[in-house]
Amino acid sequence: MENSGCWCDGIHKFIFYIGLIILFRYFFRFVFCIQRYFFRKGHNVQERYGQGSWILVTGATDGTGKATAIYAAKEKGMNVVLVGRNKDRLLKAEKEVRTANSSIDTRIYEFDFNKSTEIKDFMKISEEFKDLDISIFFSNAGVMTTKCIRDLSLEEIKEMTETNIHGPSILTKIFTDRFAKRDKRSAIMIMGSVAGCTPLPNNSQYGATKAYLISFSKAVGYEISDKIDMIVSTPGFVKTKLNGYAENPLAVSPTHQAASLFKDLGFERQNMPIIGQEFANNLLGIVYSLSESLGLAILGKIMIQERKEIETYWEKQEK
Ligand SMILES: *[C@@H]1O[C@H](CO)[C@@H](O)[C@H](O)[C@H]1NC(C)=O
Ligand SMILES: *[C@@H]1O[C@H](CO)[C@@H](O)[C@H](O)[C@H]1NC(C)=O
Ligand SMILES: *[C@@H]1O[C@H](CO)[C@@H](O)[C@H](O)[C@H]1NC(C)=O
Repeated sequence: MENSGCWCDGIHKFIFYIGLIILFRYFFRFVFCIQRYFFRKGHNVQERYGQGSWILVTGATDGTGKATAIYAAKEKGMNVVLVGRNKDRLLKAEKEVRTANSSIDTRIYEFDFNKSTEIKDFMKISEEFKDLDISIFFSNAGVMTTKCIRDLSLEEIKEMTETNIHGPSILTKIFTDRFAKRDKRSAIMIMGSVAGCTPLPNNSQYGATKAYLISFSKAVGYEISDKIDMIVSTPGFVKTKLNGYAENPLAVSPTHQAASLFKDLGFERQNMPIIGQEFANNLLGIVYSLSESLGLAILGKIMIQERKEIETYWEKQEK
């Protein structure tokens, strides 16, 4: 450093250290990511949340809800309350849970988020099972209609708001109060979506409801972290009815999704089922930071494709 008197020397050093900090940040994030996705085991649920305690799952008749109920029974030995809107499908899902582990106990509860919207309706769910030691509440029920707002009906907007925002918020409050009376730790798991990580043209309403859940879950989780583990899951594509059993490199099975959620529970505030999703999100973040218009344009086009896939799936179903 011979010309150390020059002012530009200071700037060079400044840029060098900023660069070093950014590199270190990425390096450590990468190392933590590897550890998280490939080496870390989940908590022992029975020990952490109470022997013989129960999980209550909404939207439990299909997809991630049913897979998580089965996983909780089979791999974690938990008793299960299944909440859903159709009695026959509830009975069918209950049977599958019992087949997965015959030593556990189950209950079912019929509930339609689109119809029951009063506070007393939600209180009833908790009161119905006041004799059970529920330790985990999994808010999974959700609806999606992938359309541009011009094509959405008022009913579709109402249904997405009731099911994806109104219900989860009120039930989270009810279970937070209920869990405060337990001695052991408890948990609240919220089904978000990668759709909530950035604004999503042509799926705007759905994306916004999930953005709400991500924000809500992280903030509430911080408030109640002394007694409750709260986590929001933001998968990209899970092969379920909701997205017409998506086929793409980032799509995972509902069982994989359930396993990854339990693995992150008590460690993370946000869950993603595969490391590829983590990278895809970072890439999208970079695109958005360069140009929001570009990000919006790309996602708007992806959503047209998504809608086509869903429509093809439902057409096949109707045949
Ligand atoms: C089933 O549940 C019981 C009771 O919690 C548990 O001990 C057992 O490990 C679970 N799994 C299987 C496959 O039986
Ligand atoms: C949700 O409720 C609205 C009326 O409040 C109704 O028009 C719509 O069909 C309902 N959706 C479902 C899937 O039941
Ligand atoms: C949204 O979808 C329509 C077709 O349904 C398409 O014409 C439009 O370009 C899409 N918007 C964006 C931002 O991609």
